[in-house]
Amino acid sequence: MTDFFTLQPGETAAPVPPGPVLCQGTAAMRRIHRVFLWAYGEAPALVRSAGPGDTARAAYVGEVLGNFDKILHIHHEGEDLLMYPQLAERAPACALHVEQMLEQHRQVALRLDDIEPLRLRWMGTADVTDRDTLADKYRKLSDLLNVHLRREVTEVMPAVDKVMTEKELVAAAEHGTGQFSKRFLVGYLGMVLATNPPGEREELFKEMPAPVRVAYRVVGRRMYRRQYSTLFPGRPVPETL
Ligand SMILES: [Fe+2]
Repeated sequence: MTDFFTLQPGETAAPVPPGPVLCQGTAAMRRIHRVFLWAYGEAPALVRSAGPGDTARAAYVGEVLGNFDKILHIHHEGEDLLMYPQLAERAPACALHVEQMLEQHRQVALRLDDIEPLRLRWMGTADVTDRDTLADKYRKLSDLLNVHLRREVTEVMPAVDKVMTEKELVAAAEHGTGQFSKRFLVGYLGMVLATNPPGEREELFKEMPAPVRVAYRVVGRRMYRRQYSTLFPGRPVPETL
């Protein structure tokens, strides 16, 4: 089976500057993008899983999806501020690709802005017309992400690996995470681990600060399992660590 992160016919990667590899951005980005691809792939059916007037289910699903929307937005904001300006300055030949990626980020932001008020309204009413419109909006966002999250990894990250240090990359990755509670983040880590294949999962976990690893073992894994079972009743909970 071909890996999801593969250049498609007609797509070209940005020119990779000469010199040594300074950071493992391509691998790190692939791992974080997998959880977004999974979440937004599931989002339309999750929304539709709330029956007419089932506000308890709508509120629960809506809150989980709202957290993903916020994380996705912050992930892009971190790249807009702390990765793309650096790439554009240090590898001017990547300018066209940088502009394309920033434009895709703007398209995602527009869709998220469009989703937000409808999601909040539906959480309170579980109205069936709103539900179907919301599910459709999430499907369109998922379609867009299936292109953007792939192309950022295949076309841009190999150049980033040559011009940014590991420390700079970590700063971009950690941008905005302070806006979330530690409790939320360790539970979310379970989903990130579950959506990555064995091997990469261990790599990702090794990169986490020691307190995060401990918190995950103590509370995060249980939170993840409970959340998964509530979101997808009857499905076996995918393996993590
Ligand atoms: Fe990204």
